[in-house]
Amino acid sequence: MERMETWREACLVPLERMKRVSDAMLHKMDVGLAETGTNLPMLPTYVTQQPSGKETGHYLTLDLGGTNFRIAYIQLSEEISKVALRREAKWNIPKENMEGTADGLFGLLAEAFKEFLDQLELDGIPLSRDKIVLAFTFSFPMDQNALNSGKLLFWTKGFNIPSCVGKDVVVLLADAMHRAGIHGVVIPAVLNDTVGTLAAAQYFDETAKVGVIFGTGSNAAYVEEMEKIEKMQGKDHHSKYMVVDIEWSDFYTAELPIMSFDRKLDEESLHPGKATFEKMIGGMYIGEMARNMLLELLGDDALPAPSPQGRKFLATNDAIGGEQVAAICALQDVLGEPLLALTESLGYDDEAIKKAGPVIQEIMFLVSRRAARLAGAALYSVLRKMGRVGGVRILPTIIAVDGSMFEHHRLFHEELIMSLTELVGPEAEKIKLQLSKDGSGLGAAIIAAVADLGAQ
Ligand code: GLC
Repeated sequence: MERMETWREACLVPLERMKRVSDAMLHKMDVGLAETGTNLPMLPTYVTQQPSGKETGHYLTLDLGGTNFRIAYIQLSEEISKVALRREAKWNIPKENMEGTADGLFGLLAEAFKEFLDQLELDGIPLSRDKIVLAFTFSFPMDQNALNSGKLLFWTKGFNIPSCVGKDVVVLLADAMHRAGIHGVVIPAVLNDTVGTLAAAQYFDETAKVGVIFGTGSNAAYVEEMEKIEKMQGKDHHSKYMVVDIEWSDFYTAELPIMSFDRKLDEESLHPGKATFEKMIGGMYIGEMARNMLLELLGDDALPAPSPQGRKFLATNDAIGGEQVAAICALQDVLGEPLLALTESLGYDDEAIKKAGPVIQEIMFLVSRRAARLAGAALYSVLRKMGRVGGVRILPTIIAVDGSMFEHHRLFHEELIMSLTELVGPEAEKIKLQLSKDGSGLGAAIIAAVADLGAQ
């Protein structure tokens, strides 16, 4: 099991290596604040005012970023930090719309929006059709020069519609609304999900300073001092702070423990050569890492031979999903249900299951642990960048986190906290990771409300 030994060592990501990954990220963060076009782009978001909890009004939000999109109606109460009403609906995005045309994708959003507005009216929720304020969470890298405009830089995750790249996604959405016969829509803000997650957390607790997603994809946003965003110099701005969308999907350093299975995953992915870091920590990829590792073990005869059907199954992209990895990691008794379902797909008999079970579970542990420790190194870099750690004392910090890997993958969650504790050292308990469930939609409404207040 020589291969397993190599993997064990690489996936452990020892403390010193996590530190070196963090050093590299910190350095690239500095470069990204000064220059455009780097692989850690540090994107200005034009979110310059922090929510106070006093925001009020009713807003519609549209949240696009994963395999689903959500539309919500959110009423912020006059009472501090209180959401008076939230109605939400979710739609699946067919694969052909994720890789088709701009009109196809944005048309789908507009049709769903129309349906949602009609339903609100049927439910007796008062709407003024003359002015519908819609905040747009668009969870991809954008080049923004205002809060209400953002040009798509490149697609990540499962999306690939080349004709959208370089276009202002607010214009694409507004045009689609128009074509669908919906009038009066005003879009005052477009934002990344990390930015929304941060705003939602700040609405309840002003001390939150970082928003993070560990889900299908992964990324973080934090509050930066304007004068440190060198590339903003000369641009018209009067604020002291601006939220920066780090966009770490494409981060790369030679310190990353990249293995043969990562290279295969990359070659077979929708965006080869891109999103190196996200492909090591994202929920969209973790099942693929495990599948490619199992394939290599089969090639070495280190696993019992599957049935011809089983072989076909394992050769199929995305045959193993992130939830399956999480569920197998959580098994106390290796031979529990989610593992048995997988071994059944491989066509194993009882004897083969007994032999392969522990190996398969270890593979799931390894990819999850590596993901968590690299994610920990990334968070540590953000804390260092903000000066929350690394000085004489650790400053108490709330990090708002959302995403399936953090919420549902227990081993990932625990290993992430452990890695951060190792990195931060004594007083690590001052750094709190707080689940901000579905924060990105709420955060969009709050950012629109802040913009509204500012405009008055
Ligand atoms: C991908 C996107 C990024 C987003 C993250 C989490 O990395 O590029 O913008 O924040 O996924 O959804």
